[in-house]
Amino acid sequence: MSFIELSIIQSMKKEFVLTKKLDHVAFIMDGNGRWANLRGLPRHLGHKEACNRIIELFEACREFNIKYMSFYAFSTENWDRPQDEIDHLMDYLEEFFHREIDYLDSIGTKLVVSGDLSRIREKTRKVCYEAIERTKNNSNWYINVCLNYGGRDEIVRAAKKFATEVKEGKANIEDLNESSFKNYLWAPEIPDVDCMIRTSGEMRLSNYLIYQNAYAEFVFTDVKWPDFRKEQFIDCLREYQNRNRRFGGLKNA
Ligand code: IPE
Ligand code: IPE
Ligand code: MG
Repeated sequence: MSFIELSIIQSMKKEFVLTKKLDHVAFIMDGNGRWANLRGLPRHLGHKEACNRIIELFEACREFNIKYMSFYAFSTENWDRPQDEIDHLMDYLEEFFHREIDYLDSIGTKLVVSGDLSRIREKTRKVCYEAIERTKNNSNWYINVCLNYGGRDEIVRAAKKFATEVKEGKANIEDLNESSFKNYLWAPEIPDVDCMIRTSGEMRLSNYLIYQNAYAEFVFTDVKWPDFRKEQFIDCLREYQNRNRRFGGLKNA
């Protein structure tokens, strides 16, 4: 590619303007282990690098005025991994919260965690609860960290919560609909996903936000998460922007 072609592409990238509605972007941060292996590094260093991307992507989202962001950090299936890898991952997540919480709070970011924290080790759980408590009144930006998260688990829990309320006379079966059901999910205040981005070339949902992703646009990229920066994010946004969202109707939304 010539220098001129490269400059044109770069200036096009710089000028990207998001015009399509995009309130909620959900990332599956995949490929950390392979990224590390390709460099002859232990897998956990891929997770370390991965955590540095979160704040970069957060900033990029802010630039495009995307208010809600979800990050898949650890699934209910990830317990099948070696304990050592899980421990490192939790270390890096704690570091992320410690490092960024002051800044995130200062610009009005609300941190939400989706997933059952009771199974997460105490240290990490504490850091999460502190971040949630500290930022609970913020509403400029939302970061939804999916931790020990599974979409099926979330729906089963919601069904149980609702059934319990009915049993206790606090809810009526007639009042349950697709919208009110969301109140029983982990993060009711976060709207449906508009754009779901998965890195590393895998093309599956892996149990991610299955209720909220019902009408999301899926964008898959071969780039591994530790290499996923603003530039690669813009490539995904361009793809999203070119999609025709019809929601079952005939008009492009
Ligand atoms: C995603 O990266 C992070 C978690 C699942 C916690 P992986 O660790 O799955 O990396 P690959 O897919 O094995 O390369
Ligand atoms: C999904 O990635 C979970 C996270 C990114 C946290 P995985 O690497 O665990 O998913 P599979 O095994 O490829 O489906
Ligand atoms: Mg993976």
